Amino acid sequence: MNICVIGTGYVGLVTGVSLSEIGHHVICIDVDEDKVTKMKKGISPIYEPGLSELMAKNIKEKRLRFTTSHSEGLQQAAVVYIAVGTPENKDGSADLSFVAQAAKDIAENVEHDVIVVTKSTVPVGTNAMIKEIVQTHLSDGLQVEVVSNPEFLKEGSAIHDSFHGDRIVIGAENEQAFSIIEEINQPFRVPIFKTDIKSAEMIKYASNAFLATKISFINEISNICELLGANIENVSTGMGLDQRIGSQFLKAGIGYGGSCFPKDTKALIQIAGNVEYEFELLKGVVNVNKKQQGILIGKLNDCLPVISGKKIAVLGLAFKPNTDDMRESASILITEELIKLGAEVVAYDPIAMDNAKTILSSKVQYADSIERAVDNSDAVLILTDWDEIKNVDLAVFHKMKRPLVIDGRNCFTLEAMEKNGIDYHSIGRPVSAKLIEAAPI
Ligand code: UDX
Repeated sequence: MNICVIGTGYVGLVTGVSLSEIGHHVICIDVDEDKVTKMKKGISPIYEPGLSELMAKNIKEKRLRFTTSHSEGLQQAAVVYIAVGTPENKDGSADLSFVAQAAKDIAENVEHDVIVVTKSTVPVGTNAMIKEIVQTHLSDGLQVEVVSNPEFLKEGSAIHDSFHGDRIVIGAENEQAFSIIEEINQPFRVPIFKTDIKSAEMIKYASNAFLATKISFINEISNICELLGANIENVSTGMGLDQRIGSQFLKAGIGYGGSCFPKDTKALIQIAGNVEYEFELLKGVVNVNKKQQGILIGKLNDCLPVISGKKIAVLGLAFKPNTDDMRESASILITEELIKLGAEVVAYDPIAMDNAKTILSSKVQYADSIERAVDNSDAVLILTDWDEIKNVDLAVFHKMKRPLVIDGRNCFTLEAMEKNGIDYHSIGRPVSAKLIEAAPI
């Protein structure tokens, strides 16, 4: 199948590469010339395990191409995927201007009937809008079908998720569209769920909102655990054994970040608001997350009443491990606050430091190893649970003035920290290892 993907952001690039890997001929369009030049050489603009290798392989095997030209990209394509960004407007709603432009570009450049598949996360009703735009600008006699096909990929494991996802959702209006998109996706061997377009659009928002709710819920439980002396790890494990609840997304921490949950939760509140429904629960989820992102500052303050002039080492800046993505990471808020309080902030992240330098305050300093960041510091804050951090030799914390670790991701066991004489404050757990931790299951 000849497929065109418009937009080579995270979703578009992973989609294009995965579709070429299962045998389709894919051409990806992006307006950024620099980026396209690099991608033609197999250089991925994002850090994503396995992506560069698959890009290089499929470019070499002539199934994957990149262009800045809409006419070149759309000429041969029977199916066009829209994977452009839907950034957040000031009021929290999704900005659909890039989607609308992509629809117009498709109509003005195809010379045949076309199926437009929406990968971008878009509010309910957007596919109908896309259909109308394309039909209005399309040459006489040509037909357009629209299909909603939301993505559920996690950054850091997107390639793996493409081939081992739980489901592929296809929302369409007629059997012909269903069967073409089903055929395209069949080699992924992932269960396919067919539904109407509006429901497909809603499945994406509802799924992300539900996962965000799970995280805010467990974070609130962790705060209560701290007050009562219970241990959140034991509580999560015990809850997760109930299959109705499930063990995933019950890890307490410093809140969710990234390109999806923060944006999609706010957009869903707006979508509901537009039909005069107040999504009270989701508003709570968003507020809890905001509070949780700042919780380490309070913990630090309890240990170091004067933060001004102190050297604070920040370990981990990305919103989660295995990505260089800094979008909506708690590290933004936390480093900002530390600088405001007059701290000397020295940060380390295995991958995200280049991105961080463009986003965080210029007062943040960077170290090229955990050891250098921690050296002679007054406190260590852990913000991302990278393996490199979780597996660090605990002796490194004795390079501090006094070993004081405030961990937003529960990277270490209480026993290990106590045994190593480290003053350890984490999320939803007692300060010292007096309680018995859950045995591995
Ligand atoms: C998410 C969805 O999982 C994916 O299906 C959707 O397509 C895009 O949004 P992603 O943003 O890549 O994917 O990351 P995810 O692994 O879901 O984590 C999101 C955030 O939640 C991270 O900041 C992570 O640290 C946090 N999180 C996740 C927790 O705090 N606790 C958990 O138990 C799980």
